[in-house]
Amino acid sequence: MSERIRVLLSEQEVNRRIQEIGGQISRDYEGKQVHLVCVLKGGSFFMCELAKRITVPVSLDFMSVSSYGSETKSSGVVKIVKDLDEPLKDKDVIVVEDIVDSGRTLSYLLTMLQDRGPKSLRLCTLLDKPERRVTDVQVDYTGFRIPDEFVVGYGLDYDQKYRNLPYIGVVEFD
Ligand code: IMP
Ligand code: MG
Repeated sequence: MSERIRVLLSEQEVNRRIQEIGGQISRDYEGKQVHLVCVLKGGSFFMCELAKRITVPVSLDFMSVSSYGSETKSSGVVKIVKDLDEPLKDKDVIVVEDIVDSGRTLSYLLTMLQDRGPKSLRLCTLLDKPERRVTDVQVDYTGFRIPDEFVVGYGLDYDQKYRNLPYIGVVEFD
């Protein structure tokens, strides 16, 4: 079975939108420092581009989580594979994700991070599939709302491939 990638959001569209979100965050956090928390691996491409567009001081940290259960049906119980290096106490934190799908992973993760006492905690995602939501998650910054299709690129993978595509595409099988 061979697969093809159909472009859903071009590199130019994605970059333009990231520029807008960066501007919005810069305005919202005027006079503050933002602490971006990247959820590896998917969030990394988006976070790097976003950080470059933010004009207030930025610090970065990374975490890696895996959800129990199969890849396609996340249970929502999250195991920390790599924890953050820095405490979140009194920081203005923005969690940066590639996509919010069922919302299970994020809802668990946000509750856990909230317990670490940040001054504020917001969520920024490049993509949102609202039709797929089963757990309520408040998304503060959204790049694009997309239909329920499996997408790759800009950090998102299919079987660990295609993360490096500079655009968002839908995987199609022949
Ligand atoms: P959920 O919101 O807990 O269902 O899990 C979201 C995670 O599932 C994301 O962080 C991605 O790693 C993965 N995921 C969901 N939808 C897609 C997709 O369309 N392409 C690639 N990965 C996806
Ligand atoms: Mg992810």
